[in-house]
Amino acid sequence: MIRGILSGKGGVGKTTITVNLGIALHNLGENVVVLDGDLKNPNLSLHLGVFKYNLTLQDVVEKDISHISLLNALYVHETGLRFIPAHLSLNFLDTDASKLKSFLENSPYNVLIDSSPGLGKDSLSVLECCDEVFVVTEPYLPDITDCMKTLEVAKDRDVNVKGIILNKVRGKDYELGKEEIKACTNTNVIANLPFEENVLRSLKLKNPVINYKPLSKVSLGFNQLAADISDKEFVKPRFLPLKRAFSFIQNKSKSAKAN
Ligand SMILES: Nc1ncnc2c1ncn2[C@@H]1O[C@H](COP(=O)(O)OP(=O)(O)O)[C@@H](O)[C@H]1O
Ligand SMILES: [Mg+2]
Repeated sequence: MIRGILSGKGGVGKTTITVNLGIALHNLGENVVVLDGDLKNPNLSLHLGVFKYNLTLQDVVEKDISHISLLNALYVHETGLRFIPAHLSLNFLDTDASKLKSFLENSPYNVLIDSSPGLGKDSLSVLECCDEVFVVTEPYLPDITDCMKTLEVAKDRDVNVKGIILNKVRGKDYELGKEEIKACTNTNVIANLPFEENVLRSLKLKNPVINYKPLSKVSLGFNQLAADISDKEFVKPRFLPLKRAFSFIQNKSKSAKAN
């Protein structure tokens, strides 16, 4: 199964979602690997805090040698997540993303691809690889119109659209709600992820939020989404307020000791 995380515009949270959803699926026992398909602006590595590689996606795709497989560029993060990074260097700007499809045929893993935004050549190449896609948006009108274009192109190409992932929701009256978005797009909103500063902190620490703050609302949102898409039951942790309060006190005492 090849799944893609797409969006109409940049900065909406595709890479954040790819990484955290990937970890949540891995924790549920899925044989998943996340792949950086944003070849112009790859930043999966930044989110995972791993920068040294012998081979990256572009090395494999560019070498064009039949016995080289993408598995040569597969690494395992400390969370257990398998990932295939793309090189950050400008030297690889011309890598042809349309070659990706042949490398993903017969993959022994379920692959979750982080796409570039919009409908450029690279995102269309990612779309071509996918059995199903998720389209990420923020809850504002221009974002939704961009999202609609991506949905339309995916549907035109007979790619199964699993749904919209609504991200950075602040619960303000000027945001569009799930039902409004569904009415505009004819597509279900399958996740409603809150805006949380923990996500920004986790990026600075290069530690995915689901690992850094597993009990936070956004992390539970990733777990819920992973359970929903893999047809598993989502079990909400028990005594959540108590556990959150306990981890808050622990963190306070750690930072007091550090000072
Ligand atoms: N739910 C969220 N709450 C707060 N900040 C978020 C959330 N999701 C993503 N971000 C932040 O938004 C920025 C863009 O996210 P990123 O995943 O890189 O987007 P994209 O891959 O779509 O360009 C990053 O700084 C990230 O930490
Ligand atoms: Mg990104």
